Amino acid sequence: MSISKKMREQMQRSSWIRRMFEDAERIKKERGADAVFDLSLGNPIEEPPSRFLESMRSAAHDAASGTHRYMSNAGYQQTRAAVARLVSQEQGVQLSENHVIMSCGAAGALNVVLKAILDPSDEVIILAPFFVEYIFYIDNHNGVAKVVESDDAFQPDPGRLAEAITDRTRAVIINSPNNPTGVVYSGSLMREVAKVLKDASQRHGHEIYLISDDVYRHIVYDDTPLAAVFTEYPSSIIVTSFSKDLGLAGERIGYIAISPAVGELEALFSACVTATRILGFVNAPALMQRSILACLDARVDMDLYRHNRQVLCEGLTRGGFRVVEPMGAFYIFPQCPEPDDVACCAALRDKGVIVVPGSGFGRPGHIRLAYSVERQTAVKAAAVLAEYGR
Ligand SMILES: Cc1ncc(COP(=O)(O)O)c(C=O)c1O
Repeated sequence: MSISKKMREQMQRSSWIRRMFEDAERIKKERGADAVFDLSLGNPIEEPPSRFLESMRSAAHDAASGTHRYMSNAGYQQTRAAVARLVSQEQGVQLSENHVIMSCGAAGALNVVLKAILDPSDEVIILAPFFVEYIFYIDNHNGVAKVVESDDAFQPDPGRLAEAITDRTRAVIINSPNNPTGVVYSGSLMREVAKVLKDASQRHGHEIYLISDDVYRHIVYDDTPLAAVFTEYPSSIIVTSFSKDLGLAGERIGYIAISPAVGELEALFSACVTATRILGFVNAPALMQRSILACLDARVDMDLYRHNRQVLCEGLTRGGFRVVEPMGAFYIFPQCPEPDDVACCAALRDKGVIVVPGSGFGRPGHIRLAYSVERQTAVKAAAVLAEYGR
């Protein structure tokens, strides 16, 4: 046997994703790519802002000695200081470079934080529906994922959260704006979540971390306000990246920001730096750390996302799906007219629309649509969806 049993199991568990891709590819071959509307992938379609491209060109021309060497595992001091200023503004709390570690995307950041805080069998609470990779990341570091259901509007349920916390709970991961639902958690709800965590930390005699996955923070609609976790809860850690808001998913650049109010800040910071090294990331890509410096406040154009969100929500509603209107990110997670989400995906696939069953995100009876696609793809998919329940 060439590969580990555990890896075999993990590959098996994610095989539905592969099956979906294979199905989509087969249908594209049979009918031609123009007849297939693929809403399965959350790959940002918008190009990075021109300011980023200019900055990268100029960083690439930098001939200073040492430009391509290893650096501190935490990343360049100058980049961390600039990120600290950005997070200070957004969170209303003063940070310095000593609170920021640059990472290989948000995925890298999550793995670093989990490695830094988990002992074997420690529990990490995730809220369903969830970003499925969380399960694997928690397992990577010998933790146990504990799933807590969100309510019907996909908002966290503080009561259920309180019930799920045990002596082994080390952290709760939240994601707002959310993948797969697109919902944004309200400030008042975040205050309630913070209260639950404060009470539980006190009761169990150890800090329970709130890990806020902020990858979609800058993709919000209608000026929806976003909560600032650092002002709500002292033991907060932000993990995020420039994958979605600067359209740099392939460049693997992100960061960890630790709340200045966290207990044993220096130990946590050092643990994250060491985890960056020994997980084999070593440091975030040097060229990207220099390139983002000049454009931390730049964003991709949101017009396309706004347009696609509207046409797809309309199409889904007409087709008999129950839609919770997404306020951020580029996903919609409607409830199917029938209970079987896998059958719903298969029926849509036969009509040329590729979407993902909600079961894969821990909420059967729903489907996930990713609308980071060309306008025409969204318009044509919406027409198919509108006919679905008829
Ligand atoms: C909720 C969520 N977290 C983390 C990630 C990983 O982001 P990155 O590409 O920056 O590693 C994704 C990517 O789709 C995501 O949707």
